[in-house]
Amino acid sequence: MSIDNVSRIKERLGVVDVVGSYIKLDKAGANLKGKCPFHNEKTASFFVSPDRGTYKCFGCGAGGDIFTFVEQFEGVDFPGALKILAEKAGVELVKEDPRLKDERERLFKVMEEATLFFEKGLSENKEVLGYLENRGLKKETIKNFRIGFVRDDWTSLYDFLKTKNFNDSEMEEVGLIKKREKGDGFYDRFRGRVIFPIFDNSGRTIAFSGRIYKDDEKSAKYLNSPETVLFHKSKILYGYNFAKNDIRKRDFSILVEGQMDIIMSHQAGFTNAVATSGTALTGDHLVLLKRLSNKIAMAFDGDKAGLNAANKGAKLALGEGMEVKLVEIPEGLDPADFILKDKDGWVSALKNSVHIIDFNLNVLRNKGLDKRSLGMEINKIVLPLVSGLNSKIEQDYFVSKISAKTGISESAIWEDLVGSPKDEIIAKEEIIITQKKVLKTKNKAIRELSGILYWQKGLEESVLDIEKTETQLKEILGGDVFEKIENLSDEIKNEIIFEAENLYTDERGLKNKVEELFINLEKEYLKEERNKVLKKINDGDESDDNMKLYNELSKKIEKI
Ligand code: UTP
Ligand code: MN
Repeated sequence: MSIDNVSRIKERLGVVDVVGSYIKLDKAGANLKGKCPFHNEKTASFFVSPDRGTYKCFGCGAGGDIFTFVEQFEGVDFPGALKILAEKAGVELVKEDPRLKDERERLFKVMEEATLFFEKGLSENKEVLGYLENRGLKKETIKNFRIGFVRDDWTSLYDFLKTKNFNDSEMEEVGLIKKREKGDGFYDRFRGRVIFPIFDNSGRTIAFSGRIYKDDEKSAKYLNSPETVLFHKSKILYGYNFAKNDIRKRDFSILVEGQMDIIMSHQAGFTNAVATSGTALTGDHLVLLKRLSNKIAMAFDGDKAGLNAANKGAKLALGEGMEVKLVEIPEGLDPADFILKDKDGWVSALKNSVHIIDFNLNVLRNKGLDKRSLGMEINKIVLPLVSGLNSKIEQDYFVSKISAKTGISESAIWEDLVGSPKDEIIAKEEIIITQKKVLKTKNKAIRELSGILYWQKGLEESVLDIEKTETQLKEILGGDVFEKIENLSDEIKNEIIFEAENLYTDERGLKNKVEELFINLEKEYLKEERNKVLKKINDGDESDDNMKLYNELSKKIEKI
């Protein structure tokens, strides 16, 4: 619906008009540059391309078009940015189809009525109120988070919503009722559970999570709404609506796993906490957080599973250039229990949270392993995090640190770090680009060559023989990998073009640079081949063929 609005706005407003109205821009070749508004910096690393209508910061990784810029700068969502820019451009927004809008409004209404029904259910049930109180929740918290209860009955909500004139398909569409398997009719999804409404960014209920209030072995502890037109769990953080201002103010978010964790955290005054509810952290979640602050403190369950989950999420966040710390929760507790038991302990745990890589390093060192086992564990757990870091300086810092703390040589750590297979680098565009695995000369060369190619292809006149360069790249990489590069998303293309432009301001040197990159690339591939052979030899296969191959590859590498 908004495509039309978007292009009308873009016709009238250039990226320089928009960005330039927020920050000072200076000319830098074909582009403009300025100090990035999204992170603190002394020297300008924020570039704007009038030709492509895009911007990119090489300090913090922010990038996009006028819409993402306004979203980020003003902290609004897409419709919000649309409104602001339409006004600037003097464009009247084409209205959504009113019927669609009405239907959606009805769905929000049915969720609101259900929320009220559950809230009433709780206020009428002393036993459940007692249970929540026992868990440490104050009346005010229950009210703010709009916690509710529904008694164990097949159709109590359904019957209530009928009296409010909602129809079956509306209730079914938002996941409140389910069709009976036999016979006609519907029954309530949530029965006999404490109800936690899940809100969208502006505080409207879009889903529910229901908890049994007497632990039993049979039922799942939590039952959540399914994916619906209102609720996409990979894009929603529980508590974001309450936390967003404080995340910005305090300049970090606290990420926890469960409903109770975040509610207890807010109650204790840590109002910058959010939770993934019943799902792993996703890139979309990170986008939401990054808009407000680049720093995350993860507070997961104090057990192995909690640390594993934290590491998984951390890897993703590090790859986005975010700073990730881990809050140490005592073994066997989760943040909710911890806050209830020992609030001061929680406060100092937050204060003493350490970088996720340091945390893992310490855990492993305290295990009392021998050097070899320690090395293996480091390789398995710590190095993936280090390789996820998107700054080479940071990687270097941690490699030195790991070496100092374990006695493993820095060069060995680097070798293992760069030893990830090429497919992993290229197969996923988000890995090649967002995680900026530019560690290996090889990957760096691929990235740079791709950027140069896209950049030069977009020019009216190129100094390169594009066709020849493409063929050469395809020959080295193979068709599959080359195809993946051809299919990179626009966002990523934009990023690598900016990089190429910035790296090579002197176009005359470009040809030499391309040649050099190809040489590096070839050399790295040969080395990889040689390492494979070497591994076979080391594993005991010292056949003549292997020895010969090894020598041949060595000679070729030397020649280059
Ligand atoms: P936990 O099992 O750690 O629950 O799951 P919890 O938060 O400690 O719950 P309380 O304190 O006993 O009430 C963490 C989160 O995983 C999701 C919920 O969002 C929960 O808060 N979950 C858990 C489910 O979606 N389904 C389940 O059956 C269990
Ligand atoms: Mn828990």
